Amino acid sequence: MRAMAFPDGIADFRSDTVTRPTPTMRRAMADAEVGDDVYREDPTVTALQETAAGAVGMEAALFTPSGTMANQIAIHLHTRPGDGVVCVPTAHVRKYELGAAGALSGVTFLVVDSDDATMTADALDAALDPNGPYYDIRPGLLTWENTHNASGGTILPAEVMAKGSAFASEHEIPVHLDGARIWNASVAAATPVTEWSNHATSMMFCFSKGLGAPIGSMLCGPAAFIEEARRVRKRLGGGMRQVGVLAAAASAAFGDRDRLTEDHDLARRLGEGIASRYPDAVDLGTVQTNMVRVGGDGLPHGAPAFHADLDAAGVKVGFAARDALRFVTHRDVDGNDVDRVLAVLDSA
Ligand SMILES: Cc1ncc(COP(=O)(O)O)c(C=O)c1O
Repeated sequence: MRAMAFPDGIADFRSDTVTRPTPTMRRAMADAEVGDDVYREDPTVTALQETAAGAVGMEAALFTPSGTMANQIAIHLHTRPGDGVVCVPTAHVRKYELGAAGALSGVTFLVVDSDDATMTADALDAALDPNGPYYDIRPGLLTWENTHNASGGTILPAEVMAKGSAFASEHEIPVHLDGARIWNASVAAATPVTEWSNHATSMMFCFSKGLGAPIGSMLCGPAAFIEEARRVRKRLGGGMRQVGVLAAAASAAFGDRDRLTEDHDLARRLGEGIASRYPDAVDLGTVQTNMVRVGGDGLPHGAPAFHADLDAAGVKVGFAARDALRFVTHRDVDGNDVDRVLAVLDSA
């Protein structure tokens, strides 16, 4: 069920993080059984952690306030200062976490160039030299991102991940999966999450993105790793007390994850609607989940003008680049909102 229309009839396509908790989530929050989770006494978060670990086929899980914190705890635990974290140039952990990996863990990045945000085993072999001279940067961690945000929500092919991760494990490099939107990938590709998580040492996913919960992410991995993660989370100020009120909303959102298919259908409809008017503005091949990237080159007046027209019509959207917009569908936008976007294009 849709939570509540945005104020003043605004249609907000900036991100899937803008959703408001549904009445079901709010009721679950009000009814949640809680306790002090720093003492491990919150039954609601404990149950959610067990459910999440089971769902991704890992031993244990830890609820964190954000995806960034979960990713950074993983980087901190897998690496030593001076190590390189292997990723594509536009990885969230590299570009959008405020330099946290350097600031908190003293690591640098080993970047593998890639046109489509995937890393083949050959590309990894060429870019890294795990057996190189001792004064090379030591690859301490390989990270994947699925779906890949900066590429427009594209799905990482499981076989690419399997081969790249096999290369990493041959060289005893641990693997972390940033699966902020892994459930979008799973639902869109009709593929169990374990097809990806089986090739990772640890992973995180977010409840606060497409799933629609107000707050929260889950770091998953081996039991001993998650035990250490609990200590690092506390050190970072992320030890939470009666956190069951948040876990209850996350749990309701998680149970409803099959609805992501509605967001994907809506993104497709939006992408096709724009492409039918301006074929060069959208690469439909990249519209795989809940994002649509619209390139200004393919529009008659460019992305900033389209952005201004949308804004005047009460439609919010973000810039993916200086001349490209990113639309994200989620549980608080619908077919009427898509029609509003297309009407703006028609009246330009
Ligand atoms: C791929 C990816 N990883 C991690 C994050 C970080 O999540 P949070 O905003 O909860 O810190 C995001 C946020 O959008 C993301 O898109």
